[in-house]
This record gives sequence, C-alpha cells and structure tokens, in this order.
Amino acid sequence: MSSVGDAPCRLTVCRGCCCGTRKKVPGVDHEAQFARLSAIDDHTGRTVPVRRSECLDLCFEANVVVVQPSAQGRAAGGRPVWLGRVTDEHLVEALDDWIFEGGPGIAPLPEALRSHVTSKDAEKPGKGEKAKKDKADKGAPGRETDSKNDRDEKRRKKRKKAEKKARKKSEKAAKAERRAERGHGTDPAAA
Ligand code: FES
Repeated sequence: MSSVGDAPCRLTVCRGCCCGTRKKVPGVDHEAQFARLSAIDDHTGRTVPVRRSECLDLCFEANVVVVQPSAQGRAAGGRPVWLGRVTDEHLVEALDDWIFEGGPGIAPLPEALRSHVTSKDAEKPGKGEKAKKDKADKGAPGRETDSKNDRDEKRRKKRKKAEKKARKKSEKAAKAERRAERGHGTDPAAA
C-alpha cells in the first residue's frame, strides 16, 4: 500500500451534464473510455485512482480530465494539468504513456496532449476559435467521427430544403393562377 509520501498520480474524470454524454460528444463510447482511464497503471504497477466528477464548469471543453501529479511529481514542481476535448483513443493512449513515465512534474507532456491543455479558468472560445479547434481535432489521428449521424443530418436538411422549395413553388403557381383568373374575369377584352 502506498503512503502519502509516494502517492501515485490521480485522475479526475468529468461526467457531468456534457462530458460523457452522446448529445454533447457524439461518436465516443464514454463508458468504455471511463473504464480505460480507470485501468491506467504507473511504472510501479499501481493503478491510478480515478474519481468521477460532476460538472467542472468547462463544458465547452468536454470531455474534461484533470491529471493530478504524484507526490513525487508535486515535490518536483508538478501541478494538476487540465485537459479538454479528451474524446479520442489516441489521447487516452498518450495520457496512459505519460502517467506510466511519471506524469506532471516528472515526465514531459506528450505532444498529442499539448493542444488539449486547458485550465479551470479558461474562457469559452468565440465561434471562429471553436471552429478552428474542431477542425484541428477532426484532423487528429484516431479521431472517431460520428459520420453516419453527420450524413443523416445533412440528408435531413437537404430534404427539408427541397420540401420548402416545392411548397413555395406550388404556392407561387396557385397565386399566379388566382391572379390569372381574376384578370380573366375583369378583363373587358376577354368578355
Ligand atoms: S460536464 Fe464536464 S465540464 Fe461541464
């Protein structure tokens, strides 16, 4: 059993109103991800304790995971690292490797996690910034996209647009017909 002096890294995994939900983060098996995070070991073979948390007030960064340093890492200057948009398997792999190597304060942050570092004081990004982040995420290796849902949504929108167009066309034709009939009835030349 580990004493406080050699306590391992710990993870806080947000599973609130947005993190861990298919509505906010589609295309991810959140329970499988949670199980995967709960099975991370450090280099001494200790399983890293994982706490499931309520909303951490960073919903725009869902899924949020906080990595607490080990006692050794903290003594070496390591501080909790907040990670946002942890949605892909390759990010969980990178997190696993990082913790195995020692985590905050001991091992450098893996390249794959760099653009995912956030903070508890982070501000919600503007639309342009969010689009950039989303685009970067989509290009990341191992990205699981909800392509079927995307396609269905596009089809639905296309169908709706076509229906609207057809409705407008028939309304226009009916109007023209009414106008023509009125014109026909009042046109002295037609009598
Ligand atoms: S639900 Fe995770 S930050 Fe809100």
